[in-house]
Amino acid sequence: MNQPLLERYRQRLPISSATPVVSLNEGDTPLIPLSGPPAARERGVSLFAKFEGANPTGSFKDRGMTLAVSKAAEHGAQAVAAASTGNTAASAAAYAARAGMKAIVVLPAGYVAAGKVAQSLVHGARIVQVSGNFDDALRLVRELTENYPVTLVNSVNPFRIQGQKTLAFEVVDDLGTAPTYHALPVGNAGNITAHWLGYSELYEDGVIESRPRMLGFQAAGAAPIVAGHPIEKPQTIATAIRIGNPASWQGAVNARDESHGAIEAVSDEEILRAYHYLASREGIFVEPASAAGLAGVWRWLEAGRIEEGATVVLTLTGHGLKDPGTAEREVRLPEPVPAELSAVAAAAGL
Ligand code: F0G
Repeated sequence: MNQPLLERYRQRLPISSATPVVSLNEGDTPLIPLSGPPAARERGVSLFAKFEGANPTGSFKDRGMTLAVSKAAEHGAQAVAAASTGNTAASAAAYAARAGMKAIVVLPAGYVAAGKVAQSLVHGARIVQVSGNFDDALRLVRELTENYPVTLVNSVNPFRIQGQKTLAFEVVDDLGTAPTYHALPVGNAGNITAHWLGYSELYEDGVIESRPRMLGFQAAGAAPIVAGHPIEKPQTIATAIRIGNPASWQGAVNARDESHGAIEAVSDEEILRAYHYLASREGIFVEPASAAGLAGVWRWLEAGRIEEGATVVLTLTGHGLKDPGTAEREVRLPEPVPAELSAVAAAAGL
């Protein structure tokens, strides 16, 4: 049985014997070797996917939420709150349920994938939908937690970043070294900040001799860091990263600059190409935002920007089942056929 994340990395996390560990045995997700798009194979580039969809609530958020909710419990909190494009909400709802706390999640109405809303509802969270985008929701939930006895569990809560840094630890545990590149989607920018923190701690302690170049990818219609200014009305099919003013903007810029990496924009078309490729060729079903890392790396590979022999790790942030709506729009379900062998065989293309 795998252990709670907080037990496995206890030495590197801000917990003590006074911290009640609220856990779903998160983390320890598979690092899956990919055969990769042709451009990777031709150049001898090794691609690995860290599949965070294998976490208990189906996204990487559980790494940060186990710590944020455990610390909230340590400090006697009765309720937690988060603004969310959906995954943070689902994770907060699950961990709060486990801790016997109330969860309040503030969502941008109409822009949260169905699976995430269903999770939050069934876990018993109090859902507030606002007529606005994620950035409005985050502003409101910050004000809410300043004025009411509720603990904020968005990634502006430093325990979220501390928990999420463990992804880098697991990659190093599995590879025995740091990869050459680490690519991931960027929304509110907490995760790229957390990855970089994790690698940097191992580097400073001499566990690894080098750190990866961090490659962050925003959706083209929601790419404030690339543009250099907030985006008033962000738009993308990848609703998880439909964010115009990321809270951890500076952390992302630091990760980019200190690692000699890059933060670039990928179009919805590139995201969908990577989404279909991962599912139909590699057998890994992710939600659209999670495909943004591969979309960007694919472009880097085709442009010859990744050197021969490099190792690239992609964080695949969330499970494809989170967003059945996109799957249904992307792949048409065929009409039913009569319950007869000949009709079934013909429909099966045999
Ligand atoms: N991928 C997925 C599946 C996400 O849900 C998110 C963020 C990201 C990538 C981006 O990570 O914000 O740390 O840069 N989702 C947040 C939420 C905003 O509310 O669930 P980030």
